[in-house]
Amino acid sequence: MTVSGTVPAALGAAPLPPAPPALLDARSAWITHLPFGACLVAALRPRLVVELGVHVGVSYCNFVEAMAREGIAGRCLGVDTFVGDSHTEAYDGSVLAALRAHHDPRYGHFSTLRQATFDAAAEEIAPGSVDLLHIDGLHTYEAVRHDYETWAPKLSERGVVLFHDTEVRRRDFGVWRYWPEVSAGRAHFAFLHGFGLGVLAPGEVPAALRPLFDATGEAAEEIRALFQRLGRACLAALPAT
Ligand SMILES: C[S@@+](CC[C@H](N)C(=O)[O-])C[C@H]1O[C@@H](n2cnc3c(N)ncnc32)[C@H](O)[C@@H]1O
Repeated sequence: MTVSGTVPAALGAAPLPPAPPALLDARSAWITHLPFGACLVAALRPRLVVELGVHVGVSYCNFVEAMAREGIAGRCLGVDTFVGDSHTEAYDGSVLAALRAHHDPRYGHFSTLRQATFDAAAEEIAPGSVDLLHIDGLHTYEAVRHDYETWAPKLSERGVVLFHDTEVRRRDFGVWRYWPEVSAGRAHFAFLHGFGLGVLAPGEVPAALRPLFDATGEAAEEIRALFQRLGRACLAALPAT
């Protein structure tokens, strides 16, 4: 990625990520959101990041890498059974082993990969503690609603939630149906590329995100176009197979 500098209009002058993250993997559907994810971390400076649905670790390691780059003294937790679901298909232990080999030496001092169900992990997290929650598990309507409702009490007052796959309407995918319900009357922004990514601030809106949530019309389109362009650069950086 060659773009550098800041995105003052979009994210309260959060710095753009200098390059694609260290972990890129074509099995992930999150590649084109990586620059936004990194900017979001820089803007929010979260004390606790939780990801529900890690799989090969592309979105998770991008958050964690941004925490390290920005010198943010927070913690991160990535939760997954690491066996797959009906949308990813089943996978074996080699996925978690490869992820640990990348993740643990670099980020193990502040980040934990937890092999558990989302519900079991929720019992270990204090209410009101999560500043950034990424919901990327099973993408049926029932599952995403359950995951949000289970984890919403864990959000801090300024907590922000990401929902992936808000634009996927095939098979039994249902985030597209839940997104309008959960975002109605709350501060939100929607990216349409990369299968759709919803950004929600259900409580107090963090000051750094005010420009994003206030953007409408042409300003919103500019933000979408910027991060779509940056995201394409990450796709282009995927190692050849
Ligand atoms: C779409 S993938 C995650 C993609 C990942 N964020 C990325 O960057 O590519 C969904 C993952 O959620 C996990 N999963 C789904 N439902 C779960 C649940 N209730 N508890 C734990 N893991 C779950 C699956 O094992 C799968 O690895």
